[in-house]
Amino acid sequence: MQISVIGAGYVGLTTAACLAEIGHQVLCADSDLDKLKELNAGRLPFFEPHLDALVKRNTASGRLQFTSPAEAIEQGIAIFICVGTPPLENGEADLSAIESVARTIASSARGYRLVIEKSTVPVQTAKRLWKHLSIYNVTGLEFDVVSNPEFLREGSAVGDFFHPDRIVIGAESPRAVALMKEIYRPVLTSQTTCPVHSQCPSSHEIPLIVTDTNSAELVKHASNSFLAMKISFINLVADACEAAGADIAKVAEGMGSDKRIGQSFLNPGIGFGGFCFPKDLQAFVRIGEKLGCDFSLLKEVEKINLRRADQFVAKVKKELWVLRGKTLAIWGLAFKPDTDDVRFAPALNIVRRLLAEGASIRAYDPQAMEKAKEELPGITYCLSHYEAAQGADAVLVLTEWNEFRNLDWDTLSRTVAHPLLIDGRNLYHADEAAAHGFAYICIGKEPHAGTDHVPAANGCEPAPADTVSPVTSASSQPVSVPAVS
Ligand SMILES: NC(=O)c1ccc[n+]([C@@H]2O[C@H](COP(=O)([O-])OP(=O)(O)OC[C@H]3O[C@@H](n4cnc5c(N)ncnc54)[C@H](O)[C@@H]3O)[C@@H](O)[C@H]2O)c1
Repeated sequence: MQISVIGAGYVGLTTAACLAEIGHQVLCADSDLDKLKELNAGRLPFFEPHLDALVKRNTASGRLQFTSPAEAIEQGIAIFICVGTPPLENGEADLSAIESVARTIASSARGYRLVIEKSTVPVQTAKRLWKHLSIYNVTGLEFDVVSNPEFLREGSAVGDFFHPDRIVIGAESPRAVALMKEIYRPVLTSQTTCPVHSQCPSSHEIPLIVTDTNSAELVKHASNSFLAMKISFINLVADACEAAGADIAKVAEGMGSDKRIGQSFLNPGIGFGGFCFPKDLQAFVRIGEKLGCDFSLLKEVEKINLRRADQFVAKVKKELWVLRGKTLAIWGLAFKPDTDDVRFAPALNIVRRLLAEGASIRAYDPQAMEKAKEELPGITYCLSHYEAAQGADAVLVLTEWNEFRNLDWDTLSRTVAHPLLIDGRNLYHADEAAAHGFAYICIGKEPHAGTDHVPAANGCEPAPADTVSPVTSASSQPVSVPAVS
């Protein structure tokens, strides 16, 4: 099918490349001319595993092309709207980009168009789109409006396209449903080779949920808000674990073993971020208000999440007392691993607070440093996590990149000024850290500290006295390490 995708961001570009991969003829468009220039030169505007190869293969075959929104709208029978819907000051989604695309479709497309809303939008947006297209229709355009919410996760977006948990189609006409089924048929029938796995996870039937447009739109906001709620919930439980001397890993395992709860999204940490959960949660709260529904539950979820950065900084201050003049190594800036996306990243929020306290920051992220530099120009960016740790009073783990997991503890202990590891993602084991002389503070567990560690105010007992104090280690002179790329 001749498909157009408007918006070449994380969702649009992935969707366009994957649709081309499954055999469609795809025009991908963006209003950002620089982005189009880069794409036409074969460079991706962001990092997403497997996407580069997919884009290259499909542009080479001619199935994927980059162009202006006007040309894409003129040619595509099915038009996926994948533009941004960022939050307004009041938390509502800004739908101006969607409105602008709709006006272009209404004024320039001819014949029939299937207008597919893939951007995350408030319930009843498809209805508004339909009305808007009707009002601005000057060409006798025939059209359907479909809601097809996107559930991809940055970092595994290509795999998610080929192995979705479900495909949701909100439509009001049989023709629209039939066209959507045709678009996704290769995925629904597993008649395509997934470009991610050499051996795909055992194929199961992918649920296709066909509904009205309002329900489809609500599926997206309700799903993201539910996942955000799960994260805030486990973070609350982690706080209780710290206060009571329990272990969040065991509590989460015990909870998650209940099939009704499940293990996923029970990892405590520094809070959720990214371009979806924070803004979608806020938008859902505003939607609730407009609909006259009491969504105060979700306001609490947001409040709990906002507190995470403060709580993490408080942990750092509890160990280091005054931050002015201290050097802190930051491991990870992206809002999650396997992406370079720093939008609403908790790591950036935390770094800003640490800077405000007068700390010097040495940061490393495998992919997100270029994007972070635009937001945080005043810090030192390093070539490896070991280089970032050089001379540091503490190492702070803020994103759970795999490359941080298998630590060379000896190198690290020769590198830091003080062996103190404050882990916002619970990547390590306290015993292992202690065995290498590190005081280890993480989330939802008792701190594992050195001999003269001052017990936490909540009454946690100090850990066994076979570890080295974060502030008095004799073996902690900073040494120079070669940059590891
Ligand atoms: N990023 C995710 O993980 C994710 C997942 C599911 C859903 N979503 C939703 O998908 C939508 C897009 O998200 P994203 O992360 O891809 O955003 P993005 O900012 O990466 O991409 C949006 C793109 O749209 C372009 N654009 C803006 N206005 C335009 C216009 N009028 N005409 C043409 N192009 C225009 C921008 O230049 C940008 O390249 C949002 O509604 C988001 O909530 C995102």
